[in-house]
Amino acid sequence: MRVLVKREDLDKRVAELAAEIDRDYAESDCLLCIGVLKGSVFFMVDLLKHLKVPLSIDFFQTSSYGGSTTPGEVRIRKDVDLPVRGKDVLLIEDIVDTGHTLNTILGLLRFRGARSVRLCALLDKSSAREVEVPIDYRGFEIENLFVVGYGLDFDERYRNLPYIAVLDETNASAGS
Ligand code: IMP
Ligand code: MG
Repeated sequence: MRVLVKREDLDKRVAELAAEIDRDYAESDCLLCIGVLKGSVFFMVDLLKHLKVPLSIDFFQTSSYGGSTTPGEVRIRKDVDLPVRGKDVLLIEDIVDTGHTLNTILGLLRFRGARSVRLCALLDKSSAREVEVPIDYRGFEIENLFVVGYGLDFDERYRNLPYIAVLDETNASAGS
């Protein structure tokens, strides 16, 4: 496994993003941070610990990557519990790949009457994009490679790695 983003670089970038977010939402009294389970959890926790603006948190879970749905069809497996209407929503995601997941969720949040909706994504695989998704806060642009760690999984493994790594193809196919 090749390390793509080191722990120190993650920490540094997360702190920078948090400073930006803190500045931008300084005047907001209704910030709702919504993470997309499960991949965003490590990133979200680290990011939010830096924030000083008052906020609440909630979660979406969508259909898993490479599932039986047709491309572009995204299922909501777990919806948010809190009302979205009138809130400044910051959606927090681990990685934007084709863009279908985020495109669906962003549309849903706007439909439900969020006051504003912005997207914070740790990783941007822009060369894999199929639908355009505006990323307001972006951690790192990466190549079109399958990565794991810091929340991201391969078959539910490797989420707890404290860095981002490129999964070795021989390991992936061996599946051991
Ligand atoms: P999208 O709808 O194609 O943008 O897919 C986004 C979701 O696919 C992410 O939230 C991840 O859960 C998953 N995903 C995409 N690329 C990777 C990867 O390289 N490693 C692990 N999960 C990935
Ligand atoms: Mg995800």
